[in-house]
Amino acid sequence: MIGIFDSGLGGLTILRALVPRFSRQRFVYVGDQAHVPYGNRPAEDVVALTRAGITYLFEAQCSLVLLGCNTATAVAARTLQRDWLPTSRFADRKVLGIVAPTVEAATQTPWAVTTPQYPQKNNTDLIAIFGTTRTISSNVYPEEILKRCPRARVAQQTCAELAGAIETGAPEEELDAIVARDVAKLLRSTGGTAPDRAILGCTHFPLVEPLFRRHLPAGTRLLSQPEIVADSLEDYLARHPRLATCSEGPRLDLRTSGNPVEVDRLARIFWPDCPPFKAATAGFAPG
Ligand code: DGL
Repeated sequence: MIGIFDSGLGGLTILRALVPRFSRQRFVYVGDQAHVPYGNRPAEDVVALTRAGITYLFEAQCSLVLLGCNTATAVAARTLQRDWLPTSRFADRKVLGIVAPTVEAATQTPWAVTTPQYPQKNNTDLIAIFGTTRTISSNVYPEEILKRCPRARVAQQTCAELAGAIETGAPEEELDAIVARDVAKLLRSTGGTAPDRAILGCTHFPLVEPLFRRHLPAGTRLLSQPEIVADSLEDYLARHPRLATCSEGPRLDLRTSGNPVEVDRLARIFWPDCPPFKAATAGFAPG
């Protein structure tokens, strides 16, 4: 059984891409609506909240937890994978983030390539990243891109309000105005040059992808992080079949640390046939 963790609704964009690809898998999803958004929180909070969410999913018998959240991946994945998981009671389980597969797709550099090779070595593409305050300030995207394509150009734009506005069900005009402003700021930072590719580096943002498409230059290719992550998980599970085993039970089990009635209402705006959310039991939120 695979666990997906996000601060809120954003990870549903990842889950939706996984469901048709893994027809024999069961998924448990947890959205931490009690603490969303994570993107403007101090890093220590993001680490503690992410650890609590992962623990909850491991206790629900997941063998693997995928962080359906760029902020949690950027801030917490490495430290939890390296410093916490191996000495925890879940040392036989796995935690995967979503930044590395996204960068691999954006730079066309597969995971097994550790040093830049031609043509990546000479690639001077301009890659745009939109993300939360915490993801952008972590610098994880430029660092990972430049490891693979040292001559690539990266333009980053913080979207401080967007995940929160999506999560509270802001009307489309308001979301459109936020996206228009953030895209305009990014284009000012590039001096008007259209990026070759753009990464929506927050899993909430595919929920408003048509708005990004509307405001980005026509020549900018928008990458689909959910499809990229689904491709990468297929590859990972083919190499680690032990983690793909599954028991009997519901195929999709959606839980929230917030109010399930309210979360259901908002989730259906973006995923009309989304299964109902249940309350995550006590013990998830670290306070
Ligand atoms: N959806 C998350 C991400 O990918 C987090 C948004 C937030 O909670 O600020 O970054």
